[in-house]
This record gives sequence, structure tokens and C-alpha cells, in this order.
Amino acid sequence: MARLLTLVSLLFLSLSSTAVASSSCVAFDSSWNLYAFGFNGKDYNAGTMDTWSSGTPTEITASGRPPFDGTNTTCYLAQFFNAIYVMNADSSNPSNVYIYDVGGKSWSTQATTPGSFDLSDFDAILDHDTNVFYALSKGELFFLSFDGITTSAKSDAIPWTDVQKAPYPDGYQPVMALAQNHIHFLDVPGTAAGSADIFVIHFSFFQPDAQPYGDFPATHGQTTSIFLSESNQVQQEFAFIPDDGSKTYIINVESNTTQSLAGPTNKDAAATYFASDSAIVQFTSSGQLSYIPYKTGGDTSGSWTTIQKLTSVAPTSSGSGSGSSGSASGTSTARGGSSTGTGGSSGSNSTTSNGNGAMGVAERSVSVVFGMGGALILGTLAVLLC
Ligand SMILES: *[C@@H]1O[C@H](CO)[C@@H](O)[C@H](O)[C@H]1NC(C)=O
Ligand SMILES: *[C@@H]1O[C@H](CO)[C@@H](O)[C@H](O)[C@H]1NC(C)=O
Ligand SMILES: *[C@@H]1O[C@H](CO)[C@@H](O)[C@H](O)[C@H]1NC(C)=O
Repeated sequence: MARLLTLVSLLFLSLSSTAVASSSCVAFDSSWNLYAFGFNGKDYNAGTMDTWSSGTPTEITASGRPPFDGTNTTCYLAQFFNAIYVMNADSSNPSNVYIYDVGGKSWSTQATTPGSFDLSDFDAILDHDTNVFYALSKGELFFLSFDGITTSAKSDAIPWTDVQKAPYPDGYQPVMALAQNHIHFLDVPGTAAGSADIFVIHFSFFQPDAQPYGDFPATHGQTTSIFLSESNQVQQEFAFIPDDGSKTYIINVESNTTQSLAGPTNKDAAATYFASDSAIVQFTSSGQLSYIPYKTGGDTSGSWTTIQKLTSVAPTSSGSGSGSSGSASGTSTARGGSSTGTGGSSGSNSTTSNGNGAMGVAERSVSVVFGMGGALILGTLAVLLC
């Protein structure tokens, strides 16, 4: 029996993790409710951190959503507008950015014109105060301005605009993080451990010298900006989790110091992260969700805990709790740093949802179906074994 269970779970992990988790994403809204998008064809609101230890999330699947059949899907919070922007969620229309209006519980679709920007290979942040995305792709920095977009799309396509070539060596795999409206580039070849290279958004300027921030390794990893509790304040810190998951570094760009929290329990170089003002959430490539409590400048003694409320709906689905085998091998996917929204309001023209109705199950490949079936079998076996 145990052997069968292992077999089933291995099959399950190998078939479903790659296809599903990288097509899904998690994000917070401006009230720090945690959202899970593209989980087996549905979207959920898991509520605030105090409710994650049990219960079930609220399904919010609505028309106009993307099919969540893309690769390296990423979500970004525009904090000022309480809107979540989603990239790479529609394999048929890769240049579309989908906008979820949290207040209206509705979707709209923003067309973009990529030009030379490669949507299959980039890392991006959403600047907090300008609502402009910046992305590094193949060594070139681009921006996509959502200034004026707020909570719904406009009818005109928005261009991805080439800013300039980044002054970093060819082949640099971007590790980008946003704080104080500065983009911090970690792991730039030739830059010392503990230092970041900086692009100053407001002056569209790459700082010539790296900035020392304390003690963190010069290695590839994932990042997420940490929001502040005070409403709409720009982030002052970001988390950096190296690919080996050994620690969770918190880099403060005001004090120029780094603290560390426990490394995530699930070591997964392909995991992605999204922080609120009080928690950092990890979403692994096999669909597991956990979090560590942390507030800017606060207690660093927290530990990582599974988000139970999402386990029954997560892409790996409920069986995984019993799960033998380690972390999913899977493919991967570095999804971009997270982050945030902006100042200034401005007219929001509403509009546009493409006709993709709810559930994008159709093209979503057999593996998902199998994955769900596998999860059921797994769950059943787990019950039998108990
Ligand atoms: C997904 O991201 C990974 C890591 O950046 C990259 O190697 C891969 O080519 C991307 N795949 C697609 C289809 O975008
Ligand atoms: C952090 O470094 C910057 C750039 O060197 C400097 O302007 C700032 O004063 C430093 N902050 C502190 C608190 O030392
Ligand atoms: C925005 O809305 C205004 C008023 O409804 C309309 O005149 C204008 O054409 C719209 N612009 C776009 C880009 O949709």
C-alpha cells in the first residue's frame, strides 16, 4: 500500500506540478486578504492571515478572467487601487495583462504591444508610486505604464517601452526587488555579497555603484516587497530567498541593513513569494502554500506554517498533505517579484473583457485532470491508511 501511495504521488507530482503551479499565482489585496488564482480552474479568496489555519476559502471565479493556462504566471498588487494585475495567464494572448478589480470582483483585459519585449523571459516589478511595471528581459530594461489604469483596462493597447540596456553582464538572470521606488538587482556578476545594484525609477537612472545592505549571499533567488501597515506607504523592505531556501533575508533600504528569518520549510528554487504587511507567503512549484509572519522592523522569530485553508483547493490538492516524496522537481519558473501600486488617481475607463468565460479548463491539458484525479486517489488512499 505504501508503495502504491508513493507511486501515485510521484505520478501525480510529475504530471501536475509543472503544468499547474506555474500557471497559477497568489497575491494579496490592499486589505491583506490572500487570493489564489487559477487553482484547478477556479479563483479563491482565502481571507486574512488570522483565518488560514482551517476552513475553506471563498470561491470568486468570475467571467472575464484569464484561462490561467500560461507559463510563469505572475500577479502584482496595485495597492492604491486595490487591483491585482496578472501577466502570462493566457497562452493564446500572451501580451494581455488581466486586471482583477478587488472591490468590483470583476475582470478586464488590457492589451499591450510587446515590440521587442520577450514575454516568455523576463522578471518584473510594479512600482508602488507610479503604477509602472519595469521588467528586465535578456539584459534590456523595459517599462509598461499603467498610469491611469487603476482598476480596469482602457481600450488602447499600451506599449512595452525599451528604456535601455542594463549595465550588467550578458546572461545575468535577474533577481529584482522593489523598495522605495528603487529597483534592486541582486546577484549581479561582479557585485559583492550583501550589495545590490540599483535603478532609480523616478530618474530613470542606473546607479553606477552598488549599495551595501549588510549580509546576504550573492546568489540567485526570489524576492517580494514587504508592504507597510500604514496605508499606501511605499515599501521599505523586501524579502530575498536564495534558491537553496537556507534563510529568508529581509533587506531594509532605509537603514541599509539585512536581518534574517527562518528559511522556508519547503526548499524549492522555483517557488514564488508574495508578502502583505504582516506575512510572507511561499507558493511552491508543486502547489504547496505556507507563510511566515513578519512586519517591517518587527519580530524575526516566526516560523513557516502551512496555509491549511488552501490545501484542499491547491493545484496539488488535498492529498499532498500526506505526501511522501520531497519537493517537486518540476520545472520552473521564476516568477517575478511582486508588488505594487500607485499614486495619483486618474480616470479609469472601464471596459473590456475578452470572452473567456469562467473556467479555462478547456485547454488546460490532461495533466490537470489527471492531477485532480490523482489527488482524489491519493486522498482516498490516505484515508484508507489512517
Ligand atoms: C519560465 O521561467 C523560467 C525561468 O526564468 C524560464 O527558464 C522559462 O523559459 C520560462 N518559460 C516560459 C514558457 O516562459
Ligand atoms: C544608506 O545608504 C545611503 C546611500 O549610501 C545613504 O544615503 C543613507 O544615508 C544610508 N542610510 C543610513 C541610515 O545610514
Ligand atoms: C474613456 O472614457 C471616456 C468617457 O467615457 C471616453 O470619451 C474615452 O474615449 C475613453 N477612452 C478610452 C481610451 O477608452
